[in-house]
Amino acid sequence: MKLAIGADEAAFELKEAIKSFLAQQTAVAVECIDFGVHSLEPVDYPDIALAVAQEVASGKCKRGVLLCGTGLGMAIAANKVPGIRAATCHDTYSAERAQKSNNAQIITLGARVIGPELAKQVVMAWLTSEFAGGGSTRKVAKICAIEESFAEGAKAIVDKNLQSQAPKCANS
Ligand code: RB5
Repeated sequence: MKLAIGADEAAFELKEAIKSFLAQQTAVAVECIDFGVHSLEPVDYPDIALAVAQEVASGKCKRGVLLCGTGLGMAIAANKVPGIRAATCHDTYSAERAQKSNNAQIITLGARVIGPELAKQVVMAWLTSEFAGGGSTRKVAKICAIEESFAEGAKAIVDKNLQSQAPKCANS
């Protein structure tokens, strides 16, 4: 499975630890595509979240892991990308449910919240779970419908604004 991974500087070391851990896994074959950050140089976490979320939304990577100080900023930013369901998880039960119930393609963790060993177990609990379907299918479909309804509204506003701002042709 191709997995997009990214972190800000607060979680650079956790990202490296998770990458090394996943490379040694036999329970699930994972190829990590690393979207940075590649050093302790500060970055703006939304830039990394966008890159990873786009990779997952496009289908180039099946899943994504995003890491920052709390996991929160990454989740908030990733969830702005249409089609993405990103869940912050710091325990294995939530990680499993994020996949089984919520079909979350992205998990986010905070390096200032969780230690590296538990973080590895949380990522594994999520990676080795699959969406359970059943009654959850309808609920996840409703999440998608909410997103689509706002997208239509946003498009209507953009279209209206474009019409009202359209420059008049000189000879029209
Ligand atoms: C970094 O300054 C910090 O804001 C970030 O790592 C994250 O915790 C944001 O949600």
